[in-house]
Amino acid sequence: MSNARVAEAWKHYPLHTKLQGKPFTLRPMTVDDGEALRAFALELPPHDLLFMRRDITKPEGIGRWLDAVRRGAMYTILCEDAHGIAGYSSLHLTELDWSQHVADLRVASAHRARGLGLGRLLTREAFNMALALGIEKVEARMTPDQQGARALFQELGFQPEALLKDEVKDRDGEYHDLLIMACNVEVFMAQRRAFGVTG
Ligand SMILES: CC(C)(COP(=O)(O)OP(=O)(O)OC[C@H]1O[C@@H](n2cnc3c(N)ncnc32)[C@H](O)[C@@H]1OP(=O)(O)O)[C@@H](O)C(=O)NCCC(=O)NCCS
Repeated sequence: MSNARVAEAWKHYPLHTKLQGKPFTLRPMTVDDGEALRAFALELPPHDLLFMRRDITKPEGIGRWLDAVRRGAMYTILCEDAHGIAGYSSLHLTELDWSQHVADLRVASAHRARGLGLGRLLTREAFNMALALGIEKVEARMTPDQQGARALFQELGFQPEALLKDEVKDRDGEYHDLLIMACNVEVFMAQRRAFGVTG
């Protein structure tokens, strides 16, 4: 991936915005954000934590994330409010040669910031990043009962592409199916232009 294109995309930050009157700042995550990210994770509702692919309530989970950021395998946009990290969106690049045009999107918002449009904003920011990185297709993975995530991605134009049986084993040892939804980056951007969404 071109560092120049990433640097160009990062010039857009810090981005100060208000959602339903509440101020937020978006910026790229750095390797110094580990502790703040862990504080964010510790405040997530238990149901969300149950399905986290990495246990980021633990220093080892945070360490693996920071390592991916350091290697350029993951690009994370953080959103902060007066209490700390209020949400993030992350693009995880694949190591497979035949899927260099695909990235895995992860989005989460803090309980205190839900229903304000933050998940939508963070997803849109991740698509700006995807465009800068030359990514053509963005995938999102969730268990079918993650209703907020399903509704958010559906609203933004993602389509269900696969359902993997018993792919997730939660921390209580229960199996869950995994739903993969996906969206073409060009189509996403074209829809945004058509609806007059800026940013
Ligand atoms: C999914 C998630 C990021 C949504 O965050 P959010 O900041 O509340 O989302 P937004 O306020 O931007 O919601 C945008 C739209 O998504 C839909 N939506 C979001 N949460 C919803 C819910 N619980 N039920 C139904 N629809 C929901 C609505 O259409 C909403 O638009 P509206 O409020 O104008 O009606 C949040 O619930 C979360 O962090 N979940 C846990 C992590 C997760 O499942 N991540 C996705 C897999 S990577």
